[in-house]
Amino acid sequence: MAQLIETTGGVGDGPRQRIVEGLLTCGFAAEPGYVSPALVRALRREVRQRDARGQFSEAAVGRHNLQQQNEFIRRDRTFWLDGSTLAQLRLLDELEQLRIEINRSLFLGLFDLEAHFALYPPGGFYRRHLDAFRGDNPRVVSVVVYLNPRWQQSHGGCLRVWPDVDAVTPLLDVAPRAGTLVCFLSERIPHEVLAAHADRISIAGWFRRNEGPGPWSAPSL
Ligand code: OGA
Ligand code: MN
Repeated sequence: MAQLIETTGGVGDGPRQRIVEGLLTCGFAAEPGYVSPALVRALRREVRQRDARGQFSEAAVGRHNLQQQNEFIRRDRTFWLDGSTLAQLRLLDELEQLRIEINRSLFLGLFDLEAHFALYPPGGFYRRHLDAFRGDNPRVVSVVVYLNPRWQQSHGGCLRVWPDVDAVTPLLDVAPRAGTLVCFLSERIPHEVLAAHADRISIAGWFRRNEGPGPWSAPSL
């Protein structure tokens, strides 16, 4: 009898597998066209509507309750995804598939996702930083999705990736083109957003480990 052979593809086949492969080999992956043009359009429309209603707030930097606004470090405004629109739910579903695939292949124990829309006006930037410092932050894997159709080189706003925090030569620049998804290890990859010269819209998210005390913690007597 003919044997049924699974044809799910080998390692490195398909966008999610390529991202896993990138995380595994260099802690970083960029995947153009990950999000469909229709979903990009819907998300972008939502950003425009919310921003017109004044729902975005100036982004803060800092850890825990030391959060502060610092216009020397970053200049953008954000709105946290709350799952209240179909467009958000579609994207969150895509990212959930990615979370499952990363966990399945890399055993990172990613537990959930927090994400915000970010709007960098002309002149907006975010200086070189890490998204998490070893041990003190539940963020394990960062993910960024870009929502800018017709992005030109003259618009600036690339994501610049550095090999380490005080390196002088960058590793690479990623243009924030509509549909591109970038994924990297939050504690390992220093990065920055170069000054944008046109409105630059993205979604930045973080897959987190479970921080809760969990069932293994000693009961308090
Ligand atoms: C961030 C960030 C990168 C980008 O929000 O922490 O680094 O390209 N964003 O928008
Ligand atoms: Mn970042």
